[in-house]
Amino acid sequence: MSQLTLTAVTKRYGRKTVLDSVSHVFTPGLTLLVGPSGAGKSTLLRLIATAEAPNSGSLAWDGGNRSALRRTLGYAPQAVDLPDDLTAREFALHIAALKGLEAGVADRQFGQITDAIGLNADINNRIASFSGGMRRRLIFAQALLGQPQLLALDEPTAELDGETARKLGALIVERAKEAVVVMTTHLADELAPLATAVLRVENGRLTPQ
Ligand SMILES: Nc1ncnc2c1ncn2[C@@H]1O[C@H](COP(=O)(O)OP(=O)(O)OP(=O)(O)O)[C@@H](O)[C@H]1O
Ligand SMILES: [Mg+2]
Repeated sequence: MSQLTLTAVTKRYGRKTVLDSVSHVFTPGLTLLVGPSGAGKSTLLRLIATAEAPNSGSLAWDGGNRSALRRTLGYAPQAVDLPDDLTAREFALHIAALKGLEAGVADRQFGQITDAIGLNADINNRIASFSGGMRRRLIFAQALLGQPQLLALDEPTAELDGETARKLGALIVERAKEAVVVMTTHLADELAPLATAVLRVENGRLTPQ
C-alpha cells in the first residue's frame, strides 16, 4: 500500500520553529489539516510536495526517495502566480508534460476534470481573464492531472461558492479512495465525516483530533 512517512521532520524559518520533529504516516484516504492561521499547515504541504526541504528529518514515499515521491505527486499551492498569457488549456498541457503525461491523455483528463467543476467553458480563454475562483479551480485541476497517488491540496475550496466547493469535494473524495490526499480547507467541518483523519497543526506539533 502506498504511504508517505514523515520521520522527525523539523522546519524552521530564521529562529522560528514551525514544525518541531513531526512524525506521521499518511495512508490512502483523505487527511484534513486544521489549525490556526500561521500554524504551519501550508509549510507542511510544501514539504510533502517537495517544494521545500526540511531542516532535519525525512519524508519517504513507500520507502523511496524524493524523486519517487515527485513522480506521483499532485500539488495545489495556497497562492501561486499563473501565467496570464496562456489559456487554461495551454497551461494544463504544459503541467501535464512536466508530469510526463501524454498530451492526448492529459487533454482528455483536463476536459473531464474541468467539466466536473464548471470550468470547461473557459479552458480556451487566457488566464488573464480569470476570476479568483476560476484561478483556484485551474490550480486544482492541474493538481489532479495524471491521477496522482499523492495529492497535496492547500485551500482548494477558497473563494468558491458552496455548490462549486462541493463539486471539488466530490472529486477529492473519489481520488482519496486510491490516493494519499492531504488537504487544508475552510470546509473541514463539512468534509470531516468523509475523512480518514483530521490532524491539528499547532505549536510545531501534529496531533489527531
Ligand atoms: N518563506 C517563509 N519565510 C519566513 N517565514 C515563513 C515562510 N513561510 C512561512 N513562514 C512562517 O511560518 C509560519 C507558518 O506559516 P504557514 O503559511 O505554513 O501557516 P498556515 O497554517 O498555512 O496559515 P494559514 O492558515 O494562514 O494559511 C508562519 O509564522 C509564517 O509567517
Ligand atoms: Mg496556509
